[in-house]
Amino acid sequence: MFQTQKTIENHRPQPGNQLRPGLEGVPVTQSSICDIDGNHGKLTYRGYPISELAAHSSFLETSYLLIWGNLPTAEELKVFEKEVQMHRRVSFRVRDMMKCFPATGHPMDALQSSAASLGLFYSRRAIDNPQYIYDAVVRLIAKIPTMVAAFQLIRKGQDPIQPRDDLAYSANFLYMLTDREPDPLAARIFDRCLILHAEHSLNASTFSARVTASTLTDPYAVVASAVGTLAGPLHGGANEDVIAMLEEIGSPEKARSYLDEAISNKRKIMGFGHREYRVKDPRASILQGLAEELFARFGKDEMYDVAKALEEEAATSLGSKGIYPNVDFYSGLVYRKLGIPRDLFTPVFAISRVAGWLAHWREQLGANRIFRPSQIYTGVPSRTWKAVEDRPTSIGA
Ligand code: ACO
Repeated sequence: MFQTQKTIENHRPQPGNQLRPGLEGVPVTQSSICDIDGNHGKLTYRGYPISELAAHSSFLETSYLLIWGNLPTAEELKVFEKEVQMHRRVSFRVRDMMKCFPATGHPMDALQSSAASLGLFYSRRAIDNPQYIYDAVVRLIAKIPTMVAAFQLIRKGQDPIQPRDDLAYSANFLYMLTDREPDPLAARIFDRCLILHAEHSLNASTFSARVTASTLTDPYAVVASAVGTLAGPLHGGANEDVIAMLEEIGSPEKARSYLDEAISNKRKIMGFGHREYRVKDPRASILQGLAEELFARFGKDEMYDVAKALEEEAATSLGSKGIYPNVDFYSGLVYRKLGIPRDLFTPVFAISRVAGWLAHWREQLGANRIFRPSQIYTGVPSRTWKAVEDRPTSIGA
């Protein structure tokens, strides 16, 4: 049924017994979805530069490209948009389940649970059936934003707002979140943010998705595991911490002393650094432009000057080590201006990244071999079990 990756002998890595913490530089799969040139700050999805997609494409068109490999025809795009629109609603059972979640819980935990719960409703694991795959893709892309917006209202004690069929994907999400039809510029900028976050090769959450996919489980479990991985502060969660950090700095003049103090105490500057890039992340540059577009129209966020001062100051102290702003550095400022609460920044990242996860799910199924890396054992070589009364009183003796 599935082509096995064992048959792909070309460029097979031979890491031997060498330990590679964080798998840095270890190829574990072949992929034709996205390419990163970290030395020159270039990123392409299926061969298209991210700057072109962010300028001209839509999130749904980009999702189609990522998942199915080519840009859709006008008819394919129309059908895909329509299907997504038709599947935006979530069952009242999912909404009722969300009402039982603690209002103080993090929205990423709510999203992980509700994404996993979809597997209960669409549990047929027919992953060799193209229709099942298509339906799962449509459902996940359609329902994740609805679930994010629903939890936001439920935790405030309000009823979720139903999707509006006359609104396009991004405008509808902002509407479900705020109960206001968004300004078209705000909706377009949000859509461009989704394009920028949709895919980024084998980052931690995508790797998690592929590991889960490799067991041939259902796509809802694949996405739920990726959501859990994205939540951490070293990955998608950094965008929340960036705003907290900018507020802590408070004013542009304090950027230098904050940086010096953080570096001397070996504290990371959130929103800086990336395993793949040695220059500024191309997505950070585009997001900075989007932030400026928003500020020009709706008024400036004073934290923007702090961010710019920090970037300028960091150019000397961190730039020499190849540490520059990543995608998370300016995204929070954009989301904040769009009226998105801080703890929804990472769920918004997930709304977008689900496209990349699903593209990798499909690719994994096309050449599957279960992930099962090895380890270097560092424990006690061999011991003999003793009855509890015969054990010494101090632990480890
Ligand atoms: N601030 C200060 N120093 C940094 C930073 C940073 N943000 N990032 C890396 N460094 C330094 C480390 O202290 C280390 O220095 P040393 O060699 O003198 O000890 C060196 O650079 C290597 O750092 P690692 O953490 O080993 O690099 P790695 O490639 O493993 O980590 C990561 C990449 C996790 C993104 C890291 O840069 C980081 O923690 N950044 C802050 C969190 C963040 O913004 N995460 C979002 C990443 S983008 C995304 O996931 C969507």
